[in-house]
Amino acid sequence: MKKEQLPKARIFVCVNEKPAPKESCLAGEGEKCVTWLRDELRARGKSTEIWVSRTKCQSYCSTKGTVVTFEPTHEQYSEVVVEDLKPLLDSFLEKL
Ligand code: FES
Repeated sequence: MKKEQLPKARIFVCVNEKPAPKESCLAGEGEKCVTWLRDELRARGKSTEIWVSRTKCQSYCSTKGTVVTFEPTHEQYSEVVVEDLKPLLDSFLEKL
């Protein structure tokens, strides 16, 4: 066993896509959110202290967007699209 270093914070983004007729997060939006968040954190010099991780289903599936969870603030949002991320990230960073 090997103990690993954890980052200061993490953002978990659902990239799950279930086959129809099951409802899952909006196809492709999760990957777009991951890319936007990683690019934005890199631009702000925060990419080593805040990691962005892809996840499977986080239980609040919606075809209107994806689910994004912020830790350690323990906040979760559903129906998220890329346009929602800037204010969410700004708010998250203020709380760290
Ligand atoms: S498929 Fe994204 S929360 Fe269920």
